[in-house]
Amino acid sequence: MSESAEAQVRRLGPWFHNLHLPGGLETAPDHHLGDFPRFKWLQIAPHLPFDLTGARVLDIGCNAGFYSFALAERGASVLGIDTDEHYLRQARWAKERFAADRVTFERRSVYEVHELGRFDIVLFMGVFYHLRHPLLALDLLARTGPRTLVFQSLTFGDERVAADAASPLDYADRERLADPAWPKMAFVETSFADDPTNWWVPDHGAITAMLRSSGFVVDTRPGHEIYLCRHTGSRACDDDATALAAHAARECHETGPSP
Ligand SMILES: C[S@@+](CC[C@H](N)C(=O)[O-])C[C@H]1O[C@@H](n2cnc3c(N)ncnc32)[C@H](O)[C@@H]1O
Repeated sequence: MSESAEAQVRRLGPWFHNLHLPGGLETAPDHHLGDFPRFKWLQIAPHLPFDLTGARVLDIGCNAGFYSFALAERGASVLGIDTDEHYLRQARWAKERFAADRVTFERRSVYEVHELGRFDIVLFMGVFYHLRHPLLALDLLARTGPRTLVFQSLTFGDERVAADAASPLDYADRERLADPAWPKMAFVETSFADDPTNWWVPDHGAITAMLRSSGFVVDTRPGHEIYLCRHTGSRACDDDATALAAHAARECHETGPSP
């Protein structure tokens, strides 16, 4: 007797993405965040072109592929990458159920994206704070030259940003760094929210400054912690980044997800 779809969903669990499968079955209907990530997609969706025919999309940290499937439905060719084989198994299984021919999933790290060519849209959602080398990741994904970057990160603090945060700072003025409005990213050495891969928690100022430093300008904020950015191309990462990336990617594949 063939295994029912419900049993396959159970066997492939636990799920982080609540996929709404053809026929009405959901993969994580009791998700602690609600209908996740559908509620986030509903915030982002109106800001992306409805017709993505011919567009190339990269979904970094694709998980079970919710966003990959949503963008392929608009006509894009989508490459979803993730370091965790557990989630990739779910994504590949769901691809069959959605008959999503334009989507491909590969086990790759964000530290390899500069080897993947150019993309029109890059999704980098819920991954930044899981990385030991977040700025390197931004520099590398800038090399994919996206027209649009959809960025999301866990954050802390309020949204005040010091007016002089993007200006040179003198040694004598270094107490300015203690100003709550100065861009900050808190380092978590062991574990945050029971997850040892949560290395960093940036505030809003740090996110916008780090994106800017990698050549991205924030155009719109469709929802809490979500940033739609344009790549200005003004800041290319240097060649040292390539060597660092090779090291980080190796580290990632050797030690499992999210180093
Ligand atoms: C919090 S989930 C976010 C999933 C999805 N992007 C979303 O926003 O719903 C983080 C995902 O990033 C993946 N991930 C962690 N480190 C990664 C890395 N170095 N390269 C690519 N993916 C990574 C994890 O396996 C996981 O699927």
